[in-house]
Amino acid sequence: MNIQNKAWRTIWVEQGGHSIGVINQTKLPHEFLTCTLSNYQDVVEAIKTMKVRGAPLIGVAGAYGLMLAIQEDPDDSFLELASSKLLATRPTAVNLLWALTRVLERVKPLSLAERAEAARLEADLIAEEDVAMCEAIGVHGCELIQKLASARPVERQKEPLNLLTHCNAGWLATVDWGTALAPIYKAHRAGVDLHVWVDETRPRNQGASLTAYELSREGIPHTLIVDNAGGYLMQHGYVDAVIVGADRVTRSGDVCNKIGTYLKALAAQDNDLPFYVAIPSSTIDWSMSDGVREIPIEIRSPREITHIDGCLLESAINTRLATIQISPSGTKGFNPAFDITPSRLVSALITERGVTSSREEGLKKLFPDLSNGQHP
Ligand code: MRU
Repeated sequence: MNIQNKAWRTIWVEQGGHSIGVINQTKLPHEFLTCTLSNYQDVVEAIKTMKVRGAPLIGVAGAYGLMLAIQEDPDDSFLELASSKLLATRPTAVNLLWALTRVLERVKPLSLAERAEAARLEADLIAEEDVAMCEAIGVHGCELIQKLASARPVERQKEPLNLLTHCNAGWLATVDWGTALAPIYKAHRAGVDLHVWVDETRPRNQGASLTAYELSREGIPHTLIVDNAGGYLMQHGYVDAVIVGADRVTRSGDVCNKIGTYLKALAAQDNDLPFYVAIPSSTIDWSMSDGVREIPIEIRSPREITHIDGCLLESAINTRLATIQISPSGTKGFNPAFDITPSRLVSALITERGVTSSREEGLKKLFPDLSNGQHP
């Protein structure tokens, strides 16, 4: 994606592969800063503190983290240690487990001397595949959006198609393009008149800070809403469809995504509106079936609820990033970061291979080569 006339990805290799660069997402939209991660511990810290976040990007960062660990010490025991530390950073997105396993399986049969180069190539491949998968999701999702736009009653076709999204599933959450936002980018570029309702996505406000930033950069009309406004908007005909990403999808189509997604799906069903989930196949966990019982949900610090980050406007030209306490000192908080939307509430999954039903049969038909649990 373009930022100030420069094509950016969210992660890149620096110093001939001895460090990686990332965009520090905790400062957006107020400051566009990058940082250099020079060893696997830096990557652990960047994922934990959400400088890099979003399921596909966490996976790619994990793969590069393991590459840096191998440069430090290619021995099996060190790789297992580094891998377990990277994996423990965020438990919910399956992309991390998938990418770490893939790099480990690639290097373990090799001699110690061969491992660093092989890890670099594998991590590069995972990053490139992520870009290709997300762009393909964009192509299939764009067709879906075009159909939605033209299937509306003729009198409604003069108005923009209204889509609602939750959290940030744009290019910042992946290497490039995004998942839920890729179809929106493609449809907008193809001339579909659309408008996006952006859930602010408490407590970390990825919608307000990242999705709104991305859509502004792309010139896509959008409006920020509080998380609780979706139901009202749907009841009053202001939403045509909901489209979100996911952190893990079970083989039976249960969708784990940012906390609050489930409530959007319930409201969409009650209002007879389509609820789409855009995912690369790296987000499918073929080993799990029942999302509510099996998917580990990350519980984050209550401080993310009791405090809020923003930009203090001290004067017209003087601004400063600041954290503000919004609840009484001592008030407790509970902060589950994700929830599960059962497959029965999902109208369809948009994948790199096309659009399919969110049922086991649909997923298996589209991914016969992966549904035995093997990595691509
Ligand atoms: O906690 P985050 O910001 O990593 O959560 C991100 C999401 O929930 C996204 O919707 C999900 O990772 C899909 S991203 C393409």
